[in-house]
Amino acid sequence: MVDLLSQYEKIKPEIDKAVLDVITSSAYINGPEVKAFQAELEKYLGVKHVIPCANGTDALQIAMMGLGLQPGDEVITASFTYVATAEVIALLQLRPVLVDVIPGTFTIDPVAFEKAITPKTKAVVPVHLFGQCAEMDRVMEIAKKHNLFVIEDAAQAIGADYTMPDGSVKKAGTIGQIGCTSFFPSKNLGCFGDGGAIFTNDDTLAKKMRMIANHGQSIQYYHDEIGVNSRLDSIQAAVLRIKLRHLDEYAAARNKAAAHYDKAFANNPKITTPARESKSTHVFHQYTLLINGADRNELREFLAAKSIPAMIYYPVPLHMQKAYTDSRYKEGDFPVTESLCKSVISLPMHTELSTADLERISSGVLEFLNK
Ligand SMILES: Cc1ncc(COP(=O)(O)O)c(C=O)c1O
Repeated sequence: MVDLLSQYEKIKPEIDKAVLDVITSSAYINGPEVKAFQAELEKYLGVKHVIPCANGTDALQIAMMGLGLQPGDEVITASFTYVATAEVIALLQLRPVLVDVIPGTFTIDPVAFEKAITPKTKAVVPVHLFGQCAEMDRVMEIAKKHNLFVIEDAAQAIGADYTMPDGSVKKAGTIGQIGCTSFFPSKNLGCFGDGGAIFTNDDTLAKKMRMIANHGQSIQYYHDEIGVNSRLDSIQAAVLRIKLRHLDEYAAARNKAAAHYDKAFANNPKITTPARESKSTHVFHQYTLLINGADRNELREFLAAKSIPAMIYYPVPLHMQKAYTDSRYKEGDFPVTESLCKSVISLPMHTELSTADLERISSGVLEFLNK
């Protein structure tokens, strides 16, 4: 699905030197590379504070702890997402409230979001799924009206631009009070292990979240908050500093691959290609098709026989996962999500796809569907 080795080989001298420099400096934790990466990412995103942490899941958890959410508070999120979004809500004994997504863009349905608000609702977590932003102008407007916090899950969309109603352009993760991202290796900005970050323009919140990520201390051994241990290590930061310089070029390569797929599959009645949110750019973390009138599992097997990988993100909706069984929800409650879970299939999407690769993949898909 991704080709991280070829991507590395293109920037190998820079990466190898940066990693070796960290090793010889022996500043493995919270060294100068972490601070430099933080400052460079703040500049790239146009946000006041970036708080690096250990992974995207921790970023979401620290965000919710930073906002002071209390057990029983309701947090609304999309039913079609990676489990991490709902996992941290449940872990903190908050109440995950799921709402359906928009069929075309797979992001939270603003109408369903507003309907799900109760007096106990404290926050909403829109997920910028597969690489483009949820309808953030509407999400922000509803959240403001009901006095809710907005935590953007930008794990899959770092670098995407969103045009606000006043014409200003903001980066994914910098629109709500807090944005969270992941630097998992296959993410658009991926390191060579685990990593994550939290973004905010709020000075007080930034200070608190930085403390929480560091055992609740800002002065060593003085713990003002109950915190966690969540650090981005210096080797990962060194890798990320280099890859950040290439992030826009990586997004362009992904868009080029997506345009190739779009053209190859245009007008095929069995395929729906990914819709574009008019106010967001797309950074194509995934290129996800809907297959209608054919068995997508058979398609996947057919492609696998040709050594073409394909993945199903996500096969089971959150409300039908064993761990998230909840008497409030039953099969049929989120028809869009349930239908997506039955028909989505993601094709290889990364920065190193050649025209020959793209032709081979798209011909494989078409050969199966035209049988
Ligand atoms: C939408 C979404 N949220 C959160 C996460 C969690 O990130 P991590 O794997 O770094 O904990 C991921 C990544 O897998 C994700 O795709």
